[in-house]
Amino acid sequence: MKSNTIKELLTGEKLLQEVKVKGWIRTFRSNRFIALNDGSTINNIQCVVDFENTPENVLKQINTGAAVTISGTLIESQGKGQRVEIQVQDIEILGIANPEEYPIQPKKHSLEFLREKAHLRVRTSTFSAVMRVRSALSFAVHQYFQQNGFYYVNTPIITGSDAEGAGEMFRVTTLDAKKPPLNDKNEIDYKEDFFGKETNLTVSGQLEGEAYAMGLGKIYTFGPTFRAENSNTSRHLAEFWMIEPEVAFLDLDGNMDLAEDFIKYVVGYALDNCKDDLEFLEQRLLQEEKTKPQAERSEMKLTDKLRFVLENNFKRVSYTEAIEILKNSKPNKKKKFSYTIKEWGADLQSEHERYLVEKHFKAPVILFDYPAKIKAFYMRLNDDGKTVRAMDILFPGIGEIVGGAQREERYDVLKEKIKAMGIDEKELWWYLDLRKFGTATHSGFGLGFERLVLFTTGMTNIRDVIPFPRTPQNAEF
Ligand code: 4AD
Ligand code: MG
Repeated sequence: MKSNTIKELLTGEKLLQEVKVKGWIRTFRSNRFIALNDGSTINNIQCVVDFENTPENVLKQINTGAAVTISGTLIESQGKGQRVEIQVQDIEILGIANPEEYPIQPKKHSLEFLREKAHLRVRTSTFSAVMRVRSALSFAVHQYFQQNGFYYVNTPIITGSDAEGAGEMFRVTTLDAKKPPLNDKNEIDYKEDFFGKETNLTVSGQLEGEAYAMGLGKIYTFGPTFRAENSNTSRHLAEFWMIEPEVAFLDLDGNMDLAEDFIKYVVGYALDNCKDDLEFLEQRLLQEEKTKPQAERSEMKLTDKLRFVLENNFKRVSYTEAIEILKNSKPNKKKKFSYTIKEWGADLQSEHERYLVEKHFKAPVILFDYPAKIKAFYMRLNDDGKTVRAMDILFPGIGEIVGGAQREERYDVLKEKIKAMGIDEKELWWYLDLRKFGTATHSGFGLGFERLVLFTTGMTNIRDVIPFPRTPQNAEF
């Protein structure tokens, strides 16, 4: 007999049929009630064991975490809390989980504790819900772009250039014990190294994405990116997934429209397709909020927050306007900004971004036209000669979720900017070529996928929305 998923059984109509399910035991109560989960849904199915007719050695192995096959009859539940349950005829223990050793017990474990058990934490309700939402969001990302005429481009993981010019890269080299590529001074000799030049793990697929947009028209990337920034925050990972659309003949306004439409689509998709998981995460969050002092509690429920994003326009504000707002702001009677914006030209700190989004506009904000000095070399210089056509999208509770720009398409201006920023032009010869042959206006952005998952699930630490987080001093799994 073919086995069923728990999701099928819980949503199906047919009662009194013989069923077979495979899953992991969540709890076993009163020697009688198994709560079984197989990952197909947040909900467990209740399996009622006929303990008098179950051998003692089998009963002993019915423990939290054990893998089992259960066969029986699907009946209307006698108890409260579920519509159907399985009257167990046969239970086969596939893999035991010794309760003395198995760390995921039926009690509330802290997220910190579960981070230490990253290989097992997906067996909890919270993490399975988050990972199902993550999966749905990635499907929605592809669906959005594919439906809108974008081509999926796979840009290289190993690159020879620093797209962001921030120097936060992981070096790639070979481990050839017989012939290490070292020179007399014990330094890596790149001429001797595998690629014959210095290479790094990519920080962004943008530059290569631009090359493909200037031929395919509309492209997107969706892949892992790497940053060796030593910031141990709840928003940064050393390895994260980025979605980077790039579009030929599109200016900054069109880029903002695209980003807003895209985010609304994927969040809407999750709302429509992950109802049970979001409902669970919302309840979880409500419990968590109750432990906080009144003043710090979030005013909105998770799904209301998601709907708010769908139903309201993002506020579009220039950097210059934002500085004015911040200069005139009184963030809090007691608490001032630890770093007050005094001058035009300063980079915004996350507390400023949060003030704009959460206190001033109370909505997602698109900040644009930043000072050239604080942004990457590839952004298009405005006529004022001091700002660039950059855009950052700031989200409540998250801060920056998107960074993007209209690209500098003028050969001479780009060359000048590369020089002014002290970047070696030779590294970017092919990128400059794109401006020599058939150049055109084009724009794109990068959305940090984990920050999107954070927002959608209401989780607060980025380590909890990626299966195996990579952060400084942490690559255990
Ligand atoms: O703002 P960033 O650095 O922009 C770029 O990389 C551009 N090349 C994108 C483009 O225009 N195609 O990064 C884009 C986004 C950020 O807004 C943030 O959401 C996310 O990537 N991000 C990170 N997410 C997790 N951990 C990190 N260390 C991140 N750094 C950036
Ligand atoms: Mg950025």
